Amino acid sequence: MNGKIVIITGANSGIGKAAAFKFAAEGYRVIMACRNREISAAVQRELIETTKNNEVDLMELDVSSFDSIRNFCAAFKAKYPLLNILIHNAAYLNHGEKEYKLSPDHIELSFATNAFGPTLMTRLLADHLARSQDPRVLNACTTNIKNFFDPKRTIEFDNLRGELKDTRPYSTYKMYGDSKMALLMLTFKAAEEFKSRGIKVNAIQINRVKLSKETIKKMKSFWRVLAWAQNITNPLPAGMADNYFQITTSDEFKDITGQLINHEREIVKPASTEKGFTQLKNIFGSSSYPSYAANPVNVERIWSLSNLLTED
Ligand SMILES: NC(=O)c1ccc[n+]([C@@H]2O[C@H](COP(=O)([O-])OP(=O)(O)OC[C@H]3O[C@@H](n4cnc5c(N)ncnc54)[C@H](OP(=O)(O)O)[C@@H]3O)[C@@H](O)[C@H]2O)c1
Repeated sequence: MNGKIVIITGANSGIGKAAAFKFAAEGYRVIMACRNREISAAVQRELIETTKNNEVDLMELDVSSFDSIRNFCAAFKAKYPLLNILIHNAAYLNHGEKEYKLSPDHIELSFATNAFGPTLMTRLLADHLARSQDPRVLNACTTNIKNFFDPKRTIEFDNLRGELKDTRPYSTYKMYGDSKMALLMLTFKAAEEFKSRGIKVNAIQINRVKLSKETIKKMKSFWRVLAWAQNITNPLPAGMADNYFQITTSDEFKDITGQLINHEREIVKPASTEKGFTQLKNIFGSSSYPSYAANPVNVERIWSLSNLLTED
């Protein structure tokens, strides 16, 4: 056991579970931060049995609820003296969902779970992170943000608290992509904010990974068939879990902060131009992200909204 502590949200399924397995196998003390105690306890037992690492802890967390995040962070701080690594892996995307949903804090559910919740949690754990030698935070982003190469695409800032939920058409994919774009911009700001305390904050651009059967079971029938079909060619979560591990532990990323890193562990750059042949390369490649994410007006807007919504 190496005594280092890692928190992984959504560690009961998919990439999060594979990452928990990897860290446990490498001798880390793993905190599984999960919302479903019964399902997650079975995964915890499986991890302990297969890795022979008894230091796999399970703590309750609903990332969509700010109260739950506050309770989790208070309980974690009372139990552990510091934190080495924080991985925001959990996310909300209910394939085929037609209904706009609000979190317990009356925030659109994808934004609460995928953007504002993780940002609040990083802030509440910053002191504990700063106590470790080489603290690192990793946010799970997605290639879905490439939709922002469309110059008309914007985050619906006017509809994040249900303002237009009954009148504006809702797409769960758009909200998911918007929330992950928000997460990327919040990653840039958090990296700046915590730089002086030595905390590195990066995001990983996940392209495609096999979905777990539990996740597929939750989908509506059309999406279930599509997901099974895509699963035939999609790679296993272990590869992406290995990326989580390398980015948060290896010397290669020791001094990297405020970056988006792709599935091949290359730094993704802001697009130099969004026209012609270069734009086709932007869209089909994985080496550049939309200029929307680098626009200081957008970044400041999401950062101040996040602070406003999550302040005590
Ligand atoms: N798989 C892909 O192809 C792909 C592509 C791009 C990005 N990603 C990103 O990769 C990450 C992992 O996805 P995955 O494919 O491994 O999906 P997954 O197997 O469905 O795992 C998602 C995890 O998040 C948890 N979760 C959701 N809402 C939560 C909440 N409110 N509080 C606590 N936990 C919550 C789920 O818990 P429950 O089991 O309780 O629901 C589950 O453990 C996500 O951030 C996703 O956006 C995945």
